[in-house]
Amino acid sequence: MEDVQIVTPAGKTGAAATPLKAGTPGKGPLPTLMEIRNLNVWYETGQALRDVSFDLKRGEILAFIGPSGCGKTTALKCLNRMLDAVRGIRIEGSIRMEGKDIYSPDIDPPEYRRHFGWVAQMPNPFAETVYENVAWGARIHGLTRDQAELDAHVETCLRRADLWDEVKDILHSADGTALSGGQQQRLCIARALGTNPDVLLMDEPTGSVDPIAAGQIEDLMLALRQSVTILVVTHSMMGARRTADRVAMFHMGRVVEVGTTTQMFGAPVSAEAKAFIHGIVG
Ligand SMILES: Nc1ncnc2c1ncn2[C@@H]1O[C@H](COP(=O)(O)OP(=O)(O)OP(=O)(O)O)[C@@H](O)[C@H]1O
Ligand SMILES: [Mg+2]
Repeated sequence: MEDVQIVTPAGKTGAAATPLKAGTPGKGPLPTLMEIRNLNVWYETGQALRDVSFDLKRGEILAFIGPSGCGKTTALKCLNRMLDAVRGIRIEGSIRMEGKDIYSPDIDPPEYRRHFGWVAQMPNPFAETVYENVAWGARIHGLTRDQAELDAHVETCLRRADLWDEVKDILHSADGTALSGGQQQRLCIARALGTNPDVLLMDEPTGSVDPIAAGQIEDLMLALRQSVTILVVTHSMMGARRTADRVAMFHMGRVVEVGTTTQMFGAPVSAEAKAFIHGIVG
């Protein structure tokens, strides 16, 4: 794209040809899945990220917290190259997945994005049946060979999203948009799981549902963590405490602190995290 200017020092020096593949978290320290270093992002309107660095470990739930407009969503969108098409965007720095530069010329963006599921704040199911919502990812990426495999895949995704029992009799008769808000959000999670992603990127997934539905989604995240890495943006400090393994605190486009959830909420070090977590700003 003419408007996109992407400078990735790692790519210029030639990235290791490590394949992008799924794996399972082992015992002991979790392996690094993604490595983000000195990420700077400018929109046409100005700079949104400043020297952002953090790691995402396979099998963890990492939560982004911080005041509105501090760059959390922008950082999330960098990881799956969702910002590539934004007019006038400039991205500098290094993002690696399993050691491989994600801007390496041999990365095919649509195939790369298959490794990520995206869940937005507002449930946004397609105006199609429950079945078609979930089958979509497997259809566009050709992940299943026949109807029986696709049916099984849809069932697996709905079970993983804890929605199967509620929709198994209306798979083909109800549109996704006809479900309740909390069900719609779990349907969107099932749809996101449809491409068998390594990472779920969740941008305030409980931000627009009631507290009971939010609790269900948090339980679901904890269950999914066995099989998928989760990066979640949240304004719910309770939610972050309950679900996250680690927390990254954003402030004015920077990551000012990253730590375990216990450390961040028990003994934050940075002035920004102390003030934000104790409700003084934000
Ligand atoms: N598509 C865009 N074009 C221009 N500027 C943008 C765009 N998206 C975000 N920004 C700007 O980038 C900055 C960071 O925005 P971002 O959405 O990443 O913040 P955030 O931390 O997710 O905020 P919130 O908590 O309100 O969702 C803001 O100043 C925002 O106005
Ligand atoms: Mg946001």
